[in-house]
Amino acid sequence: MKSIMGKQINFSSRQNFEFEFKTFRTIHYLGSKLRILDFIKEVVDELSSTEVGICDLFAGSGSVSQHFSSERKVVAVDIQKYSNTICSALLKPSQDDFIDSFVERVKASGDIERNLTIFEELVRFEDKLINGKVSSDLELICNFLEFSSLYSALISVPSEASMPLKKALISAIKGVNLGVENKFLAATYFGGVYFSYKQALIIDAILIHINKADSKYKDLLLAALLSTASDVVNTVGKQFAQPLRPRDKNGNPKSGIANQLKKDRNLDVLEIYQSWLGKYSKRSGVLNKHKVLNMDYREALDSLDGDIGLIYADPPYTRDHYSRFYHGLETLCLMDYPEVSSSKGGGKIQLSRGLYRSDRHQSDFCIKSKAPRAFKDLFEKSAKTNRTLLLSYSPYDKEKGAHPRVVELDFLISLAKEYFGYVDVKSPGNFSHSKLNRADLHLQSEKVSELLLVCRN
Ligand SMILES: C[S@@+](CC[C@H](N)C(=O)[O-])C[C@H]1O[C@@H](n2cnc3c(N)ncnc32)[C@H](O)[C@@H]1O
Repeated sequence: MKSIMGKQINFSSRQNFEFEFKTFRTIHYLGSKLRILDFIKEVVDELSSTEVGICDLFAGSGSVSQHFSSERKVVAVDIQKYSNTICSALLKPSQDDFIDSFVERVKASGDIERNLTIFEELVRFEDKLINGKVSSDLELICNFLEFSSLYSALISVPSEASMPLKKALISAIKGVNLGVENKFLAATYFGGVYFSYKQALIIDAILIHINKADSKYKDLLLAALLSTASDVVNTVGKQFAQPLRPRDKNGNPKSGIANQLKKDRNLDVLEIYQSWLGKYSKRSGVLNKHKVLNMDYREALDSLDGDIGLIYADPPYTRDHYSRFYHGLETLCLMDYPEVSSSKGGGKIQLSRGLYRSDRHQSDFCIKSKAPRAFKDLFEKSAKTNRTLLLSYSPYDKEKGAHPRVVELDFLISLAKEYFGYVDVKSPGNFSHSKLNRADLHLQSEKVSELLLVCRN
């Protein structure tokens, strides 16, 4: 028995201990498979030798790709660029002096100070709200959270904004219009809303240097920034689905709002970024034959390499599109200054509260009328090339407040049987207790509801 972070854990060998602790959480992510990675690996290893490559078809935060990266060839597929960026950093890590000294160069360049000077009034006003005397003025804090978006102010400065906020926004707009090299992506889209302006401006300074870096470093530098943004973002649950709601249902300021701001908006972007750079670049033992594909799963299945014999598929199962939760990461990656989605209400154009990209991806798996066809294509294309398909499924747990699934397990099993001669359902419960101890630190205290459909011919 070993004591790790205060827990007593049974490790069968030192090697397992090291392997498990190499796989880390990259971003705060809904439905990450981090907790059941060793269960997935047990099933995969039982089915095939390590010469057989695996396709992580809906790679998301990259946990499965990362877990197999030192043992067998991995092809990581996702339609979202942020996922590709994280997977590239995990599957093709680089480490040298350039990465080690990157943060020092950003600091020495003066870009951070320059950004902060251009936005001085806004940064100072927000800092007073978070840390100064005015932090006790909850109305002013609510007003800031509701009307401080620069993207919105660039269309029209909100008449409802407090006087000091209006002045600060007008001064920031003048700065943006200076036409300097930096177009202030993070400050424009996320400043005041998801990050403090200071944090967003530091992210923007880092982006300038990522853009200047040699292409061989870009994914790693950007992935570390995505992980940082995910740690720093000032929302409930660390996603980008909804900015904080500063008022209760009666319109009164919530009592904890000042503390929530203080906690997240004082997080040090550079320090967190430096530690993420270390985490990504210090990975060792990664094989050098992996691939990352930015495409729809159907296209990927049509063009997989011959040495990929297994497909691990973890598609979305609820009506919530992943793109709604992670649009902020997608925009930081694409750096494409997207249009923000809006709707018409009361004769006025209203920007979406979450400031979503208007082109955000809508997955067929999340749409009731399209999901059956999407699964049919998944089964048909996997079976046609004679590959083994492992499909993840987590049943709907009403008690935990989970969202209903778009398709039911029974439906999936009977559809799978139309294409595969052998369909089996495995759960971590099928594995012995000692394996569970080793496999997951949480499994003993939590009921595991994850399932794997093993489909082969
Ligand atoms: C449940 S998440 C995967 C989580 C992942 N296994 C992990 O541990 O982080 C589903 C992923 O499917 C991707 N996705 C949705 N529709 C897709 C499609 N048509 N083609 C490729 N990827 C898609 C989403 O972008 C999302 O990253």
